Amino acid sequence: MAVMDIVHYGDPILRKICDSVSDFSNLENVIDDMFDSMYEADGIGLAANQVGLDLNLFIIDITHTDEEEESHVFINGEILSKDGDEEFFQEGCLSLPGISLDILRPERVTLKYQSLDEIWHEEEFTGLLSRAIQHEMDHLKGKFIVDRVSQAERIQFKKELRDLTENSNKRLKSKVSKKGFVL
Ligand code: NI
Repeated sequence: MAVMDIVHYGDPILRKICDSVSDFSNLENVIDDMFDSMYEADGIGLAANQVGLDLNLFIIDITHTDEEEESHVFINGEILSKDGDEEFFQEGCLSLPGISLDILRPERVTLKYQSLDEIWHEEEFTGLLSRAIQHEMDHLKGKFIVDRVSQAERIQFKKELRDLTENSNKRLKSKVSKKGFVL
């Protein structure tokens, strides 16, 4: 078991459009570590760039609800279409601790993705799974829930966002200076 640090708002990797996965050889270990990290943080979904990995990969586990019995891994995901009624639902985010927002999203999503065995799938999702997929796909495109609300709503979290950015900058700086001590 390896729990990775979850990076927060202000870290540039969370603003990146993540790279496609081409090498599947060590992915199983990466995914295991991502699940450990997500469970440790009490999350139901986690995108690879939230643990500092520039990969189009995310995981979801909503087995605590009645909707799903298994956890999910989505690799090289691409949203083909979104449809159905738009609904508000309160979303939190492991990279935005202390912030939750009502986010408007369509009910259904059709996702093209690869599973760990490299097989391509095209599948329609509804309910909480559709919601979580849209949230994680946003991450992989460099987008946060705070980007999906009005400026008036976002401004309420101005201090939190500033603090998170400052802490992310500090963390990045300390990581760089640590590289000097290879003993
Ligand atoms: Ni999130």
